[in-house]
Amino acid sequence: MKGVILAGGKGTRLHPLTKTLNKHLLPVGREPMIHNPIRNMVACGVREVLVVTSSSHMGDIVNLLGGGREFGLDLTYKVQDEALGIADALRLAEGFAGADNVLVLLGDNVFENPVDFFVRNYLDGQGGRGARVMLCEVAEPSQFGVAALDEKKVVEIQEKPDRPKSPYAVVGAYLYDPRVWDVIRGLSKSARGEYEITAVNNEYIRLGELEYDFVRGRWMDTGTFESYAIANAWMFERPFPGG
Ligand code: G1P
Repeated sequence: MKGVILAGGKGTRLHPLTKTLNKHLLPVGREPMIHNPIRNMVACGVREVLVVTSSSHMGDIVNLLGGGREFGLDLTYKVQDEALGIADALRLAEGFAGADNVLVLLGDNVFENPVDFFVRNYLDGQGGRGARVMLCEVAEPSQFGVAALDEKKVVEIQEKPDRPKSPYAVVGAYLYDPRVWDVIRGLSKSARGEYEITAVNNEYIRLGELEYDFVRGRWMDTGTFESYAIANAWMFERPFPGG
């Protein structure tokens, strides 16, 4: 299993905080935000991790994390030249991942607990085949990818729907087998001009190979001032294991 942390994007919703500082370097509790996915990779036993970010922030991210020795990780970096979406950033990881499965974490998602159970369920329950996503019940699902469920399966994911079919947001933790690279190659841009991770997940649903877990403990996407402040308070109260 290889790890990919996606830390691109413009962070425009957090201006002026993110005018010069990369969103993923903002403090969350006592550490920069990106330490949360980094520590999560460690907790999942993933040792080789690729960090994708924009050219303007690569220097700061490398200054912070270096080669990963402090965390017991081997870190590699790639530049996403244009903010063309999560699936576009993930595309850059193909050569790095080779024939391995990948655990993808979004750099602006803060998890209270390690997602090691998610990786175990993927490897043991699915034999590491197909894809796995993680869901969290939220008050305002229309800000997220939203999963419609039947008794057992995710039947469809809609990206930021006006009328969500469930309260279950798809959070920024994904597991894929190596078929993901072909799936990404087959994507076209969405209405908002991005290559959507939701489109990747919907393709795995079409193949009948997308499973899910629910988040354990608290989770926050730090995309807004309010959610950023909440995640910051949580992590002060209870730092992520190892932090
Ligand atoms: C992205 C994904 C969305 C997901 C969210 C989780 O949204 O597109 O499906 O629910 O991350 O943080 P974005 O951060 O691009 O608004």
